[in-house]
Amino acid sequence: MKRIAILNGPNLDRLGKREPEIYGHTTLAELETQLRDTFADDAELICFQSNHEGALVDKISELATAEIDGIVINGAALTHTSVALRDALLGSQLRAVEVHISNIYRREEFRHKSLTGPACEGVITGLGLEGYYAAVRYLLKA
Ligand code: DQA
Repeated sequence: MKRIAILNGPNLDRLGKREPEIYGHTTLAELETQLRDTFADDAELICFQSNHEGALVDKISELATAEIDGIVINGAALTHTSVALRDALLGSQLRAVEVHISNIYRREEFRHKSLTGPACEGVITGLGLEGYYAAVRYLLKA
């Protein structure tokens, strides 16, 4: 059984309530349950959300020494600002896929730049929650 971490950054704890016209009505707890159900036969999912940059860096550092097969990360706003998160991903030497629910290139210009994207094998943006499923599927296959 493979082990994949699902990391979510700031404000994604309010998924389902926060700007539903952009992010939809599904809560993070519902998403995590649905992901676990979907991949129950193939993967153990380690789900973690934090509103704090340092907590996410600590988690990636912890995962770097754990027996884990990859990370799916939606760094949320930290995507656009965090050198620390980028360095943590690169330093972990773990495979990673970045996911954004919305299409960051269709939104404000400050969202067009991802500092963490280059630390990942790929970036999925704008496919809604489907992006998380595609990212897990990719990590399980590749
Ligand atoms: C997001 C896009 C980011 O720009 C934003 O700050 C988020 C969510 C997304 O999933 O579309 O919080 O990562």
